[in-house]
Amino acid sequence: MTRGTTLLVTGGAGFIGSHVVEAALARGWRVRVVDSLRADVHGDGTMRVPAQEGLELVVADLADEAAVAGALEGVDVVAHLAAKVGLGVDFADAADYVTSNVTATATLLQAMRVARVRRLVLASSMVVYGEGAYRDAQGPIAVPPRLPADLEAGRFEPVSPRTGEPVEPLLVEESAPSDPRNVYAASKLAQEHLAAAWARGGDGTAALLRFHNVYGPHMPMGTPYAGVASIFRSSLERGEAPRVFEDGGQRRDFVHVRDVADANLAAAAWTAEADAGAARAFNVGSGTVHTIGEMATALADAFGGPPPVVTGDYRLGDVRHVTASSQRAADELG
Ligand code: UD1
Repeated sequence: MTRGTTLLVTGGAGFIGSHVVEAALARGWRVRVVDSLRADVHGDGTMRVPAQEGLELVVADLADEAAVAGALEGVDVVAHLAAKVGLGVDFADAADYVTSNVTATATLLQAMRVARVRRLVLASSMVVYGEGAYRDAQGPIAVPPRLPADLEAGRFEPVSPRTGEPVEPLLVEESAPSDPRNVYAASKLAQEHLAAAWARGGDGTAALLRFHNVYGPHMPMGTPYAGVASIFRSSLERGEAPRVFEDGGQRRDFVHVRDVADANLAAAAWTAEADAGAARAFNVGSGTVHTIGEMATALADAFGGPPPVVTGDYRLGDVRHVTASSQRAADELG
């Protein structure tokens, strides 16, 4: 079924989207991109993947219903990656997150219903889980957000609300309850719920991919939405030490963008085989956990730059540890 597939990639000019486009073209799929080429994200307003046979670009915002309807013609499956990403600068961003992520997804899904396009791969995020998964001496336990007073005093590790002892971080499974703790996280969870409602109501199939911390070539730099790997790299390029927040012991799973692109294609194939009405979440990580301190040291060593500085600074919205189990994706998507 793979050859001959026509894939629509929303946000196909973006960091992850452009790698999905390249991976799909390499498999011989036809690819159509819808991207707004928003100046605050794309600067020069161009697409990175060069024009070629099998690739079409539609420059449009997803709010443009006529453009989206046109772009869906002849499409088998949609990979919906267009989104406003990152933690945001402040709450004044909230309406833009909702317009860009929630309303735009609803508009896209309505258009897919009309066009009878029944297969969706959605770019969601590990942030839907909030603070990761933990265990104390008595078993699994949910921990509340960390208190500013604790962070200020350098008490970064969450403690069990029932024993008062530090908790042990676990790998989060898809069955974990959602606990979105910022506007972006809330918008990603809303996208998942819309996709599930769309699938149930119209014999659609939706793969909800919860990406972990994605890194790799062409990751955003120098914007408020840049991830830590990109920030550290920019520091090293300026000859400065990476500045590690908290005590550097916070844990993440860094996954390469080409692996994430492959996960999108595997999920696209899954949508052809899944039961009508199915919407299923899959964590997408590398399966390997590292601390931010370890990552900073590895980057500084590779760069031959100054060693990292642990600053003790903190960001109130940050979770301490969040690490995925990507076992379901391995088992069910291959
Ligand atoms: C990231 C993504 C988010 C995605 C989520 C999925 C970004 C900006 N955020 O969130 O969109 O949904 O992964 O898991 O890409 N840190 C430093 N020094 C710095 C900057 C950050 O030590 O200069 C630390 C932070 O305190 C945090 C860790 O690095 O502990 C990761 O921060 P960040 O890259 O912003 O990613 P997440 O918050 O994990």
